Amino acid sequence: MQRVHLVGEHLGLREVSTDDVAALHAVYGDPATTEYLPFDPRSLDEVAAIVEEAVTSAGAEPRRLYILAVTDPDHHGVIGVARLRIEAEHPHSAEIGLGLRPDQWGRGIGTHLIRMLLAFGFRELRLHRIWGARSPLNVPAQLAMLTAGMVEEGRIRHHLPTPQGWRDSIVHSAIEDEWRR
Ligand SMILES: CC(C)(COP(=O)(O)OP(=O)(O)OC[C@H]1O[C@@H](n2cnc3c(N)ncnc32)[C@H](O)[C@@H]1OP(=O)(O)O)[C@@H](O)C(=O)NCCC(=O)NCCS
Repeated sequence: MQRVHLVGEHLGLREVSTDDVAALHAVYGDPATTEYLPFDPRSLDEVAAIVEEAVTSAGAEPRRLYILAVTDPDHHGVIGVARLRIEAEHPHSAEIGLGLRPDQWGRGIGTHLIRMLLAFGFRELRLHRIWGARSPLNVPAQLAMLTAGMVEEGRIRHHLPTPQGWRDSIVHSAIEDEWRR
């Protein structure tokens, strides 16, 4: 698999590098970002470990995990993170996740990012199913996934342990042939 470098009208997606730790910490270290995520704000060291995981997974064969930097198309600065994880036992299927720096919210970037991840997963990776799980309270994630064409499938009870206790998830998905239509 070639290294990912995608440039769209509204944002870019590229491989994470060790220079991105501070920029990614501005995303994952912010309590606003993690409000509906199953973990507390990440420390700088924890973000450095994620970056290391990103770099290692980019060289894996077969590659199962894409941790990508979301960039501003004009200034090329990092404004968010996207993940796509291909399931080891079901390699036709992948889970996506995303987080943007809070000062970027509410301008349609999240919706564009999901569209870009779906296009990447279906066209480049030839996946059949792409899904995402959100907190039942996460309205912006719900609307972004619905607007990008991801159907709401249902609720997984006590899907994830969080620092506050078990969390249910609402699952959304897109299927390749539906997406092409
Ligand atoms: C979820 C997230 C990526 C959405 O990004 P975004 O760029 O703000 O999303 P968009 O601007 O495309 O907005 C998506 C929809 O949510 C709505 N929205 C945005 N912020 C909102 C808010 N605070 N309350 C209610 N609706 C909101 C928008 O109006 C839009 O709805 P529409 O399509 O009907 O117009 C962003 O909020 C984020 O990074 N959150 C923290 C991490 C996270 O929760 N990730 C998702 C895990 S599943």
